[in-house]
Amino acid sequence: MADLPRCRRPGWDDIDRWASIVARKVLAAEAVPETIVGLTRGGWVPSRILADRLGVRRLVSLRAQHWGVTATPDGVASLTEGLSGPVDGHTVLIVDDITDTGESLALAAKHVLAAGPARVETATLLHIGRSSFVPTYFAEEIPRDAWAWIVFPWNYWEDLRSLAARAAAETPGIDAVRRTLLERCGLDVPREDLAWIGRTVALGRDPS
Ligand code: ADE
Repeated sequence: MADLPRCRRPGWDDIDRWASIVARKVLAAEAVPETIVGLTRGGWVPSRILADRLGVRRLVSLRAQHWGVTATPDGVASLTEGLSGPVDGHTVLIVDDITDTGESLALAAKHVLAAGPARVETATLLHIGRSSFVPTYFAEEIPRDAWAWIVFPWNYWEDLRSLAARAAAETPGIDAVRRTLLERCGLDVPREDLAWIGRTVALGRDPS
């Protein structure tokens, strides 16, 4: 059977709510940073939203890679591109969307620390209880036994493409893929979205 994880699909309202919870925690700690480091790719949108909320104008990027295709870790986490700007002497907040194994954020924190900042803290929107790394700030914790693949709005089409291709290998055809995604992943996907995906990935023919 294809590897089709249980999924949760938050909307932009959830993202906004989680970002404001994190921003309030940062403010309460009087820890508004001079620089936000956004981990690519999952941390880019949250870091931009947090920078906006907190009035932080300096946004730097750092590329961490762990999860290759949807819900499939790519061996060990690695940093594949360095910091896009200096952080020496700065107070820094590193931002990602989620801590799952915690490896990416742990690696990023170590890398940023080595660049000579005045302070490093970390923040994510979601934190999964099994993570070996606990961010300084997060909005919600997902218990380890409630693990799910989170289909963030910035990853929707990529995740859908990957999950639909796996479902199609088992049950070809748009309607069959749609049913499989609902039953196995808990994802209720509009047919037109799968039709769009079907333009770039073979999903097989529906029986006529
Ligand atoms: N990246 C790492 N773990 C994840 C998860 N559970 N959901 C979405 N993206 C992730």
